[in-house]
Formats: sequence, C-alpha cells, structure tokens
Amino acid sequence: MIDEKILSKLRNNDDYVSGEELCKAADVSRTAIWKHIEGLREEGYAIEASPHLGYRLLGIPDTLIPAEIKWKLKTKVLGKEVISYKRCGSTNDTAYALAEKGLKEGSVIIAEEQEKGKGRHGRRWISPSKGGIYMSVILRPEITPNEISRITLLAAVAAAKAVRETTGLLALIKWPNDILVNNKKVCGILTEMKAEQDGVNFIVIGIGINVNTPLDKLPRGASSLKEELRSTARSQEISRIELTKKLLEKLEESYFLLKKEGAGPIMEEWKHLTGMLGSRVRVVLQNRTFEGLAHDIDTDGSLIVRKDTGMLEKISSGDIIMVR
Ligand code: BTN
Repeated sequence: MIDEKILSKLRNNDDYVSGEELCKAADVSRTAIWKHIEGLREEGYAIEASPHLGYRLLGIPDTLIPAEIKWKLKTKVLGKEVISYKRCGSTNDTAYALAEKGLKEGSVIIAEEQEKGKGRHGRRWISPSKGGIYMSVILRPEITPNEISRITLLAAVAAAKAVRETTGLLALIKWPNDILVNNKKVCGILTEMKAEQDGVNFIVIGIGINVNTPLDKLPRGASSLKEELRSTARSQEISRIELTKKLLEKLEESYFLLKKEGAGPIMEEWKHLTGMLGSRVRVVLQNRTFEGLAHDIDTDGSLIVRKDTGMLEKISSGDIIMVR
C-alpha cells in the first residue's frame, strides 16, 4: 500500500516530488520513504533522488507486481486484489488454496515463474521466468457444475481479444481454449473448480501466455507473441503489464456479459474468434482417434464434429489436431 501511494504520487508529477510531500501522501516518516524507494529500485523502478529537489520517476519495469497491474486498471471487480510472486509452484494451486480460505471474487494470483505449472489433462505448463504471464483469477459465479465450460469459453474469448488488441496479431481460438497465432500455441487456459452437488463454490481460471519467452525455453510446436511478431515488421518486446491489464478488462467484460445475457453472446464471439469451424480435424480421445470436420460448438461448450460417415459426434473432453 505504501509503495502504491509513493508510486501514484511520483507518476502524477513529471517533475521532482519532495520527500515531505511523499511522507504526507503515504503517511510515513522520511526514513520509511527512503526504505521504500530503495525497495522500488530493487524491483526495477528508476527513481532519481536529489538532496534538494526530492524524487523523480524515470522508468517503470515490466514486472508483474500489484502496483503496476492496478495502475489505471479499468475494472470493477477483477484485479482489485492482486497477489504476486517471483516464483511459485502453480498459481492455480495457490489461488485454489486461497479461495478455500475465502479470498474474494476477482482476486488475481500472478507469478514471474512457476516451478510446477499445470496444463490440461495432467500435463505440465512450462513457465520460465521473465517472458511469460502466469495468472489465476478467482470467480464465484452462481452456476451449476455442468455450466463451467461457459467460463472456459469466456476465458478463451477474453484472451484472444486481449492478444489481438495488445499486439495486432491474429490470435485464434482452438477448441476448447488454446490460443494460436500462425498455428502455434501461445496461450493455454486451465479452469478448475470447487463444487458441491447443486452449485459451484468457486472457479479458478488459470491463464498462461508466452509473451516474450525465447523459443528455446518453450516446448516444440509452441511459440511466443514476441516470436510471432518477428515475422511481421513490428518485432518488439511486448509489455506484459499492458497485456495483463487488457486481459483482466476483457475477462471482466465477458463475465459481466455472461451474467447479464447468458451464454449466447459469448458463444457467438467464440465462433468469430476461432479459425477452426469448417476445418478438418483429428479428434484424439482416451481410447480412440477419428477425423472429421469441426462443425459447431454446442451450448454446453462441446465441439460438434461431422464424421466422414456424415454422423455428428459431440466431444466434451479430448484433444484436437488441425489436419491440413
Ligand atoms: C493448457 O493449455 O494445457 C493449459 C495451460 C494453463 C497454464 C496456466 S499458467 C497459470 C495457471 N497456473 C497453472 O499451473 N496453470 C495455469
């Protein structure tokens, strides 16, 4: 909180802010201000100190810390509480444990690096430091357990839109909730929930995005947004802070829309943002594999595939491989 108050004061002034003004703004002593300035410098903030003039903010790090994520974040609920870690096992596990203890709806758990990042179907999510966003959001919607796939679809819609708007890259959704750019996976989503028979207690939406991650740190077939920008003329480091904020804003927008108008509009958006309907796919299920055309998405979030026999089959869980 003190860091946030100091930063907010410094940000609102292009010029120096005196030590006294900072003391007033944060309601602490001069020594405390000095200590906090040192802490902020360690986080990567460039803060100039002049004995007569005070302090001046010269540079902001692209570090996923609460003060930066919350700065001018245009949301009402999501991201009001942000807990960040330099390193953790899995943000989904941490979020789940904290949600069980009552952490409120909209809270965000985010890490610079995950040691045990979890993917779908018990797989790992490789989460090296610095380049990625590893984030989990707690929601407490009033839905039944079998409506959870709506939240998963919603998260994919929000992620694709956030990537498109922040980078200009054509991000497409692959069922159920991978985000691909140039046919390579740049983002994955893992939704977990605690539910009783009649209702959902809470949901954790875990989103992993390879933002500036170098290719040699990623599994084969995966890519990062920076890497895909390289093939355009706009090769550049992407601000993880801006992307995180955009993602939270889009998530909230879709979440509120779902609450107000039901799943219909989200499903329509999902269909617009996927490149796969009408394409040939190979469906890999636990005990069999078959090919067909991706036909539609059902109201419960299942993928409907038209088999070569003409029969339609609903897939609620499995892997899809795009066939060229
Ligand atoms: C997948 O495509 O298999 C889903 C990957 C989900 C990864 C994210 S990173 C943040 C959150 N914490 C985890 O341990 N997993 C999710």
